[in-house]
Amino acid sequence: MFRFPRRLSYSALIAGVIVGFFFYWVIDIQPFHLYFVSEAEFMDTYTFSDGFNNETGVDRFIVPNIIHFIRFKSFELKFMDYVVIMAAMRNHRPDKFYFHTDVKDAKCEGKYWEWVKKDRELWSRIEVKYLEVPTEIFGQQLSDGWRLWHGSDISRLRMIKKYGGIYLDNDCFVLKSLDKYRKFECSINWDENQSLGNQVIIANKNARILPLWLDTYKEYHSDLWYYNGGERPTVEILHRHPELIHRVKGDFGADDGISPNLYLNKDFEWRHLDIIHLLIGQRIFWDPNYNATPVFDENNIRTYPYPIGEMVRELLDMPQPPKIIS
Ligand SMILES: *[C@@H]1O[C@H](CO)[C@@H](O)[C@H](O)[C@H]1NC(C)=O
Ligand SMILES: *[C@@H]1O[C@H](CO)[C@@H](O)[C@H](O)[C@H]1NC(C)=O
Repeated sequence: MFRFPRRLSYSALIAGVIVGFFFYWVIDIQPFHLYFVSEAEFMDTYTFSDGFNNETGVDRFIVPNIIHFIRFKSFELKFMDYVVIMAAMRNHRPDKFYFHTDVKDAKCEGKYWEWVKKDRELWSRIEVKYLEVPTEIFGQQLSDGWRLWHGSDISRLRMIKKYGGIYLDNDCFVLKSLDKYRKFECSINWDENQSLGNQVIIANKNARILPLWLDTYKEYHSDLWYYNGGERPTVEILHRHPELIHRVKGDFGADDGISPNLYLNKDFEWRHLDIIHLLIGQRIFWDPNYNATPVFDENNIRTYPYPIGEMVRELLDMPQPPKIIS
């Protein structure tokens, strides 16, 4: 006798729940979720104004999760190049690695590229993009001797302006996730009383400093190694407008005084850093142990007694040699 009304009330209950959920959905979620703006599009169209807070950033990612490397003239991977890629992969996990190179038909061949290929998660993230080495800037010829280096300084700015993302020098070892910096317009290591370090640039493509920095090349000094790379933008831009960047002090390991500790100081503490610059190409100039081990590989790194050895072994899951207690 009561069956019919009870069924009615069940249907009413179900209808009520559906309507309730609908209202909850409409009212509770934020308006922009109603129009399906893709994350990439959101980042690309993000614009910055004077009100942008360089201390707190925003509560969403505005830097795409792409790591950019530049490889001019050689596309070969050496063991330490492989280590740098693995460190970025394991400790940060980008969606993509873009390798920008002027090597025509660059092929991922050779022992260490084969190692990369074997790691399918890593290999699926790698893209190679052709990029000419610049020959001039604002009508001025780039220095003959330093063309690759000055060309790379210019190219990293142009590429971040094109795509946004995380630019890393080929010897920057990532130790921690860089996601916390992806909420800022532009993060750069700028230590106290020093010039900014351009070996790591994490920025949205519309970051206001990028066109200003490129403009400083109107006065290009081909004879000075770091004039346009770091000195002039520090004085011309950052001294006047420090709010254009999220200033990182020390944590990108940019200070040239820090890196030698990796090869010289057994007690050096590296774990608190986010990135460290390995200065591997310059070791010959300052590392007294250089001649014993000029090139690191998967064999000699197993017993290398300085922190660089421990860092690499930990990354690649190699056993640590027993500590010698003296
Ligand atoms: C920076 O320079 C000032 C003035 O010379 C000095 O007092 C300060 O200690 C320096 N800071 C660092 C971190 O070296
Ligand atoms: C933010 O910008 C101010 C200048 O407005 C500057 O003094 C400060 O160092 C900047 N903070 C960071 C973390 O970059």
